[in-house]
Amino acid sequence: MSLTTRAAIARQPHTGWELVDLQLDEPKAHEVRVKFHAAGLCHSDDHITQGDAPVRFPVVGGHEGAGVVESVGPDVRRVKPGDRIVCSYIPACGACRPCSTGHQNMCVKGLNAGTGMFLDGTFRFHLGDEDLGGFCTLGTFSQYAVVSEWACIPLPDDIPFEVGALVGCGVPTGWGSAVHAAGVRAGDTVVIYGAGGVGSNAVQGARYAGAKNVVVVDPVEFKRDMAKVFGATHTFADAREAHDFVVETTWGQLADHAICTPGVLTEEVVDSAVQVVGKGGKVTLTAVGKLGVNTVQVHAGHMIGYQRQVRGALFGDCNPLYDVPKLLGLYRSGDLKLDELITRRYRLEELNDGYRDMAEGKNIRGVVVHES
Ligand SMILES: NC(=O)c1ccc[n+]([C@@H]2O[C@H](COP(=O)([O-])OP(=O)(O)OC[C@H]3O[C@@H](n4cnc5c(N)ncnc54)[C@H](O)[C@@H]3O)[C@@H](O)[C@H]2O)c1
Ligand SMILES: [Zn+2]
Ligand SMILES: [Zn+2]
Repeated sequence: MSLTTRAAIARQPHTGWELVDLQLDEPKAHEVRVKFHAAGLCHSDDHITQGDAPVRFPVVGGHEGAGVVESVGPDVRRVKPGDRIVCSYIPACGACRPCSTGHQNMCVKGLNAGTGMFLDGTFRFHLGDEDLGGFCTLGTFSQYAVVSEWACIPLPDDIPFEVGALVGCGVPTGWGSAVHAAGVRAGDTVVIYGAGGVGSNAVQGARYAGAKNVVVVDPVEFKRDMAKVFGATHTFADAREAHDFVVETTWGQLADHAICTPGVLTEEVVDSAVQVVGKGGKVTLTAVGKLGVNTVQVHAGHMIGYQRQVRGALFGDCNPLYDVPKLLGLYRSGDLKLDELITRRYRLEELNDGYRDMAEGKNIRGVVVHES
């Protein structure tokens, strides 16, 4: 039986989120129907409404979510009805080439993230005659969604749904950008550009990995204050000041790592990041830039002379099946601050207010709490 679900959709760029009632199909093979309790407001959904994400419109927003499995389709083995789960925005099937070689963050089952189409070529959300996909084949800005069983990670009973939602994207993406993708080591100097929902977790990861200096650049004072809570050792409003500090504190050796997590990646941020790392230094690109713009423009001589590296990081190189439970364990033991990430809670009807607050720099993370 299909059911009716209230959901926030984007019909096209620049018109914000619109609340509609959608029809939701039953789960097919290897799919489950989830009742979401909480959804995080990641900047990547904002790229959709700003026209900077290569998605199929109309689309059901939201890719950070936690809830309860309501029903399951045939052949589902990972979860059962009643299970509390986190949705990973990238599935991990365990059997494809990336999964079987330890790169679960690039699972090929995630190939329809931009269309939300299922692997059999059909959609589960419908508005009249129109098919809709959920962003990242999730759609957590809907009360209910059908998702792949490979996107489901168990959520222990003692972890609140709103905390669980954040470990579906922002937390592992930021943490993993520092710990896995960059590979921060004890004593390193790390510069992190942008301390929002993702960058705050890069700060936590860098600090936990043993960095001596965790330097944060963010134009917003509140973000800089919170970065200190998450473990930043020094904060600056602009990249130039941070650069001068790094030169001084490393006696001209420069930083070991730069991690780019601003809301929108720009040439200026990439340029600052490349200039701030020293010999053998590494720049990790996590943030997304404007659609169609080549944001990475660097002088080859600057790369060669110091043997600098620039690399992209998807989901912080995390394996959802391994890293999500591990991060929740660190939260439980008090080693990872997740409650502090949640600045404000919204009803689904207030989603556009939540994104306005994000744009105005008021939130580390906003969270939608779905009606129960
Ligand atoms: N690679 C991935 O797997 C992945 C996953 C999730 C999000 N993302 C991307 O990561 C980026 C960050 O997402 P978020 O949810 O943390 O966004 P956010 O809006 O919560 O935080 C961005 C922060 O950057 C700051 N900022 C803006 N301009 C800056 C500048 N020039 N220099 C330094 N800081 C600046 C803002 O003040 C804000 O604190 C987005 O582009 C998002 O799409 C990538
Ligand atoms: Zn995200
Ligand atoms: Zn896979």
